[in-house]
Amino acid sequence: MAVVSLQDTLAHSLSARYGVPAFNILNDLTIEAVLAAAVQERSPVILQTSVKTVRQYGSEQLYDIFRTLVRGVDVPVTLHLDHCPYRDVISDCLRRGWNSVLFDAHELDVEENVRQTTEVVAEARATGAHVEGEIEGIQGVEDGVGSDDKPESMSLEVATDFIQRTGVQCFAPAIGNAHGQYTSAPVLDHQRVSDLVEATGVPMALHGGTGLSTAQFQDLIARGCAKVNISTALKETFMKSGLSFLTETEKRGTWDPPSLFAAQKQAVVDMAVQHMRDFRSSGQAW
Ligand code: 13P
Repeated sequence: MAVVSLQDTLAHSLSARYGVPAFNILNDLTIEAVLAAAVQERSPVILQTSVKTVRQYGSEQLYDIFRTLVRGVDVPVTLHLDHCPYRDVISDCLRRGWNSVLFDAHELDVEENVRQTTEVVAEARATGAHVEGEIEGIQGVEDGVGSDDKPESMSLEVATDFIQRTGVQCFAPAIGNAHGQYTSAPVLDHQRVSDLVEATGVPMALHGGTGLSTAQFQDLIARGCAKVNISTALKETFMKSGLSFLTETEKRGTWDPPSLFAAQKQAVVDMAVQHMRDFRSSGQAW
């Protein structure tokens, strides 16, 4: 089993109540590291690309890198486009072969969001892909998308109606979570996750994973957060491992790029493995 749809992977994790880790990868090295962790742990995994990463490479090159590196991987892997308000980037990634997209239209009023998300769901269906929907915005800027303002919270009825009318396969609720490191302890509305899953049967995506505790992850996963997003932890691991390696390199005066890459890759593998164990996705590959 290698590349699987978002719906298949989340149906499995929702029913078995574990979280599929969704890592925002940055380049070939971080893709390789996350896949190596998934193979080692026998864990399903989602590789997410921000719009910034898609634009940095171009969708064709990024998709080719993904296809090359996923070859021979025998655990379920899903390629997902994270927060994307741009219909042209959505269409481009869907045409190219991404398995799913987060159409982030929270800045539109809810009726227009419903109308456009319904269109995106139909567009995705035509390529065998799926859609994560969002109506409130998640606090914090992620790769240039989003805002630091506290999002307006919608009622359970509005959110349920959005999920049912659009037919999204996954939903990203605002529950007091935020992108980036938390500056104060988050106060999470756990009950909202339970209520939404009970009302719709649709799996939830937990955004703002970096900085949450194992107990918080496991509680939210038990309530139906079947997809758990990690971005900041990967970025910090990648850059800090590079910094400490280069600091040592400067002292030694031996400059060997492959040793730097190996150190960064191992640090990202270790970070990903830890999350797979925390989310209880280890051993869940089917
Ligand atoms: P963090 O950067 O807080 O891990 O959040 C990731 C995320 O939710 C990506 O959409």
